[in-house]
Amino acid sequence: MKQNWNASQYRENASFVAEYGSPVVKLLNPQHNERTLDLGCGDGALTKEIEKAGAVVHGVDSSPDMIEAAKTRGLSASVVNGEKLNFSNEFDAVFSNAALHWMTKSDTVIQGVFNALKPGGRFVGEFGGKGNIETLVKAMKAVFEARADFGEFQNPWYFPNDKEYKAKLQQSGFQVQYIELIPRPTPLKTGVREWLTLFSNGITSKLNDRQREAFLNDVEHAVKSALFSNGTWLADYVRLRFAAQKV
Ligand code: BEZ
Repeated sequence: MKQNWNASQYRENASFVAEYGSPVVKLLNPQHNERTLDLGCGDGALTKEIEKAGAVVHGVDSSPDMIEAAKTRGLSASVVNGEKLNFSNEFDAVFSNAALHWMTKSDTVIQGVFNALKPGGRFVGEFGGKGNIETLVKAMKAVFEARADFGEFQNPWYFPNDKEYKAKLQQSGFQVQYIELIPRPTPLKTGVREWLTLFSNGITSKLNDRQREAFLNDVEHAVKSALFSNGTWLADYVRLRFAAQKV
């Protein structure tokens, strides 16, 4: 399943992703001249913040469109699949916001980050944890099951709990200084349809236009009583935030 990213659509409907990123940048505590890798940098909004704080940052993302957008901010960035990192002892820190849940080969990713770091280097990040967008995922799955012509629902995301992810980090040789699951109900200013259009295009990639329209209508209808009130859509986000060190 191939998720496609469109930088201008992302800017219109998902600017909140970077806006909510301050706590994890604060946890990173970027240092002057520190070589930092931003894993899954997207359009580089937070990469830029880290650079402004004095670090020497390189952003990587699997989407060429997002990397173009990051480069237009003047950032150093390249198209790299996070599941195929090939850096060796080069970074003082690896940072990641709202990206690791798209990389389902988590052991491979963690090992790639470990290899990329110098001894003593930090891995600081935040992504979707256990229970993240559960209402939306359940509704998407139910809609696929109810419509025989849609085929099988394939969940593209990895949302682990804190214990599971801590154990994985430790198995790869990290010392985990902090890890926490944080429920963070998140307003979707442009609505749930736009969110679905942006983030579930991989899930619906095998559907035709008529089926995709039915998918959007059915999911919106199914989640409305849980996620829409007082004129606002509130998605049931849960963050997994962590800080670890290569010892
Ligand atoms: C997230 O940031 O948790 C997320 C965003 C889009 C799809 C899935 C998860």
